[in-house]
Amino acid sequence: MAGSTHRRAVITGGAGFVGSTLARRMHADGWHVVVVDNLCTGSAYNIADLVQQERFEFVQANVSEGLDISGSVDAVLHFASPASPPEYLALPIETMKVGSIGTFNALELARANGATFLMASTSEIYGDPEVHPQIESYWGNVNTIGPRSVYDEAKRFSEAATMAWHRTHGVDTRIIRIFNTYGPGMQVADGRVVPNFICQALRGEALTIYGDGSQTRSFCFVEDLVSGILAVLEHGDAQPYNLGNPVEFTIGQFAELVTELVGGQAVVYQPLPEDDPKRRQPNIDRAKRELGWQPEVDVAAGLVPTIAYFRERLGL
Ligand SMILES: NC(=O)c1ccc[n+]([C@@H]2O[C@H](COP(=O)([O-])OP(=O)(O)OC[C@H]3O[C@@H](n4cnc5c(N)ncnc54)[C@H](O)[C@@H]3O)[C@@H](O)[C@H]2O)c1
Repeated sequence: MAGSTHRRAVITGGAGFVGSTLARRMHADGWHVVVVDNLCTGSAYNIADLVQQERFEFVQANVSEGLDISGSVDAVLHFASPASPPEYLALPIETMKVGSIGTFNALELARANGATFLMASTSEIYGDPEVHPQIESYWGNVNTIGPRSVYDEAKRFSEAATMAWHRTHGVDTRIIRIFNTYGPGMQVADGRVVPNFICQALRGEALTIYGDGSQTRSFCFVEDLVSGILAVLEHGDAQPYNLGNPVEFTIGQFAELVTELVGGQAVVYQPLPEDDPKRRQPNIDRAKRELGWQPEVDVAAGLVPTIAYFRERLGL
């Protein structure tokens, strides 16, 4: 990169849903983007438009086994991790490795380059919250030995590692706690509620609701999230930021919205999975106050391109 005026970012997990949307936006903003991904839950499809471009590199590698990137790096954005419950439950040890060894490797890359480091944490670090909406100062309520703990604790550990590198080595770090996000780029078989409902509705199947549908979620459109990530990267500090859309829906209401947009379908009820949080809603006051960021896209508007994307992926 000698002589280049473009800032260079390494995005781990950049072939995933959020990472690829972030890679595309940073590339459009003039960054040189290096995506490192082993494609365990992501897809080359997500970055097919980027691989032919200048200022873009794709390295297929497992970041838990090392992160050897030559040339200068200005920002390391650590998004590699299985993220949907069915996927991290199927990859429990890989999830813990990428949240521990993978995070160490990404932090070391940032330290060696004097780069800013941003870690993609999650609302799951709040567990089944006793405080509602969740604010960054809440420490959470996680079952350390439940099946979901492989993900929740890996992310909590990643946050601890990020703060340790910040305090010990003076690395310029950021932590974002992402709440449920949806949009084009999600995998059809992802297992989270948005792709489940949309793909079931598009196939003319009944929508599966786990529990009685009264549990709440908030849904942030991915382009809004990416704007928040970049605001934190450029203007944030080392303390965590919640990023998400505070507008709360019950799962039952969300099923109704999807059926309105795609066409009327029935719903079937299944038992609630173990440790499934009953309520989840971000308090985003800090990002709003300090960065002037808040989501702009309402759920119905964000569902339109998302449904179009899934229609194409399903070949309908
Ligand atoms: N989407 C959300 O709603 C949400 C919510 C909270 C947190 N997050 C976090 O954001 C990040 C991205 O989530 P996503 O929804 O895009 O998931 P995703 O599964 O689409 O993307 C994750 C990417 O990481 C890659 N990856 C996993 N382990 C790897 C490893 N060891 N080495 C290299 N690459 C590896 C996968 O192949 C995939 O491309 C994750 O860290 C996730 O925990 C996402």
